[in-house]
Amino acid sequence: MQEVAGRGVPRANANAGKPFCKALEVARTCEQGDEPMAITPQPGISDIALYQGGDAHVDGVNRVIKLSSNENPLGPSPLARAAYLEAAGSMEVYPSSDHAGLRAAIAEVHGLDADRIICGAGSDEIISFLCTAYAGPGDEVLYSEHGFLMYPISAQVAGATPVTARETSRHANVDALIAGVNPDTRLVFVANPNNPTGTMIPVDDLARLAEALPDECLLVIDGAYAEYVDDYDGGAALVAARDNVVMTRTFSKIFGLGGLRVGWAYAPGHVIDTMNRVRGPFNVSAPGLAAAEAAMRDQDYVASCKAANARWRDWLAAELDGLGLPSDRSLANFILVQFPDEDAAKAADDWLRKFGLIVRRVAGYGLPHCLRITVGDEDACRSIVKFMSEFQKGARA
Ligand SMILES: Cc1ncc(COP(=O)(O)O)c(C=O)c1O
Repeated sequence: MQEVAGRGVPRANANAGKPFCKALEVARTCEQGDEPMAITPQPGISDIALYQGGDAHVDGVNRVIKLSSNENPLGPSPLARAAYLEAAGSMEVYPSSDHAGLRAAIAEVHGLDADRIICGAGSDEIISFLCTAYAGPGDEVLYSEHGFLMYPISAQVAGATPVTARETSRHANVDALIAGVNPDTRLVFVANPNNPTGTMIPVDDLARLAEALPDECLLVIDGAYAEYVDDYDGGAALVAARDNVVMTRTFSKIFGLGGLRVGWAYAPGHVIDTMNRVRGPFNVSAPGLAAAEAAMRDQDYVASCKAANARWRDWLAAELDGLGLPSDRSLANFILVQFPDEDAAKAADDWLRKFGLIVRRVAGYGLPHCLRITVGDEDACRSIVKFMSEFQKGARA
């Protein structure tokens, strides 16, 4: 994505000079035998690489274990399920537009100011609000080398240019990010922990980055996996202390509500006000709001998911390491396993798929020699180790 040439610069339009195909001119255009004006998207939209979600099916395999989207293998809290089902009883009613109930629950649990919280249809939508509101043609959106691909996609949708800063051994490098900022930079995205690397940088480094940014640039700390980390507030204190930092969070990971599409952000008041002008009034569904509120209040369940994840993540990483397949220390609910080269990673992926184990190839993130494996339940982790052990011993069909 580095230095995408000409993004934001209007490209030559093949229809330039032809009459616009509005009602009054259609007849004349057709009479003259001209082709009707082609329907073309805005400049740069056709260049956007389609986001590839994690696969969920393997041809010819009936039972699969999906470890490709960092979902919670234990599912949501039973209280969230019950709230969802209750909300299903009044589907004809529009949802709350101000999300007051969910914002209050988030504020209480995290000790935050509810007026500085906004909810979105997943944190993807919040990333999109930020890019739409703050970046446009001629502006740059900076993110780190192996950062989440919705940053460049949302930047391009807004007509802005995505730019990457190099990482150091798959860790965000704050000096490189600072060096990548210029007068055109409007947004800097850092996921902490990052997807797909699973690594994170200290909050002090994030504070240094925020301090170094010019006045017209916002730092967005993406905390999609923050709940998996001990003694980490996801960057909330930094948001509270500064005017140029936003924290995004999601209900799709530890809360097990990926299918409902609910995310949120904590931001300075002026940024909340701006995002609310971009946000559709009913952007989160009523069952989504109800389930997310119940899930947020059930912190015992969150703690049990966190403990299970840490246990099986560390076991999985150690076992694979013992098989000659190292990974960086992950702080999230997945590990990024390194293979000697791209062919080996692809062969391992094909091998696991034969047994219905679907993991994620991450060549699109500049990591062609790696596979990202979501930490599943005990059975899933043991299956991965069993089949990777066979693979490493040379058992490839
Ligand atoms: C780093 C990161 N940010 C944001 C998201 C988006 O999550 P959602 O839109 O489901 O809230 C993801 C999802 O995989 C992610 O990995």
